[in-house]
Amino acid sequence: MAKNKTPATDGDIAPVDTSWHEHDRFGLFIHWGIYAGGARGEWLKKSERMTDEEYQPYFDNFNPDLYDPREWARLAKNAGMKYFTITTKHHDGFCLWDSKLTDYKSTNTPYGKDLLKPMVKAFRDEGLQACFYHSLIDWHHPHFTIDQFHPRSPWPNIEKFPELNKDRDMAKYRKYLHGQIEELMTQFGEIKMAWFDFSYVSPEGFPNKLKEDWDSAELEKMVRTLQPGIMINNRLDLPGDPDFATPEQYQPNEWPTNDQGKKLVWEACQTFSGHWGYSRDEEGWKSVPMLIWMLIDTVSKGGNLLLNVGPTGRGEFDQRAVEALDGMGKWMRVNSRSIYGCTESEFTPPTDSRYTQNGKHLFLHLINYPFRHVYLPGLKNKVAYARFLHDASEIKIITAPDNMAHPDLNVPGGEDHLRLEIPVMQPDVEIPVIELILK
Ligand code: GLC
Repeated sequence: MAKNKTPATDGDIAPVDTSWHEHDRFGLFIHWGIYAGGARGEWLKKSERMTDEEYQPYFDNFNPDLYDPREWARLAKNAGMKYFTITTKHHDGFCLWDSKLTDYKSTNTPYGKDLLKPMVKAFRDEGLQACFYHSLIDWHHPHFTIDQFHPRSPWPNIEKFPELNKDRDMAKYRKYLHGQIEELMTQFGEIKMAWFDFSYVSPEGFPNKLKEDWDSAELEKMVRTLQPGIMINNRLDLPGDPDFATPEQYQPNEWPTNDQGKKLVWEACQTFSGHWGYSRDEEGWKSVPMLIWMLIDTVSKGGNLLLNVGPTGRGEFDQRAVEALDGMGKWMRVNSRSIYGCTESEFTPPTDSRYTQNGKHLFLHLINYPFRHVYLPGLKNKVAYARFLHDASEIKIITAPDNMAHPDLNVPGGEDHLRLEIPVMQPDVEIPVIELILK
């Protein structure tokens, strides 16, 4: 399935093989930084318009003494995740590794150590691939120009921008950005994906943050040269199809395409509760069935799910995240065959269900468990065998002619339907899956 073109650059750069990603389907996003101390998300510096001084206590008091990345990796693996994407730096500019280009890093906090190296190692030891998120935006760097998203934005007083930015030089920031990315691409072994965040057009009068500001073409070239085969996301404002698209906090209605209708490799990124960084008081946590549904729905449209956790300032996963991951793991332990290596099916599923498919294996996910019968359009005479995935127990295929005792049962709604008879009681699985082995 290797597909994607590469690059908007010339030269001998290896084509991008996305097949591992399209196989693995499920990854862990981790948003972690000093904002965990604020415990109200990763944007608090901006949303509360903090000055650097006001934000400094999060740095001065950052000491995640319970941090054990091996435990994180185990939790991710048990949930069925195959790769992880870590925020090496978020918009606040704080760095998780011992960058030579800044003092604003974990080694200078009371914790005193590099957080990234042991994390990458721990996840790799558990068999998960390493991917890096890196914020293009930087609210700490003195040369990053102030725009509408910056904590020092004078919004809506546009006339103040030139004065505020007069001593800021994006060229200097750009050099820093490229230098740090070079460190990340050379000091941590093979990095499978680069997740840059983000570019934007500003309202008139405010500085944009687009490809010229990052020198995205040069950045892309460097990254692809240093990490041949790496997948790069779609937020660098580069022309052409990205290696993968990143719908955020919503489920696309169908497989995302480019303007010509070509299906893109894609990965939905989703939170447990709304914020990405640790958010103590957030109440709206998604239920385990909803999370499982999101994973199934994503794969049924040919995509991946990158599910985020925001570890605490002590260095642990929120207990609610641990429970959710555990719930997903229980489901994945017996149903992951309908996820790994699967994609959109050519068949249309009945109401309240989703298909995923891997060759001759068609997986029917019963989102709302129906009573006694399931009618599958277009599948009459096409299925050799049917069973529940979780316990491999046979599901009866009802072949006509018809049930004379109950003529009403006779295939309502379409001659080409295949009828399955399922137990009246839903088995003890959040979302039961029926595996249909096609002829
Ligand atoms: C947004 C947010 C950011 C988060 C990211 C994840 O761009 O700015 O906080 O890291 O989405 O997709």
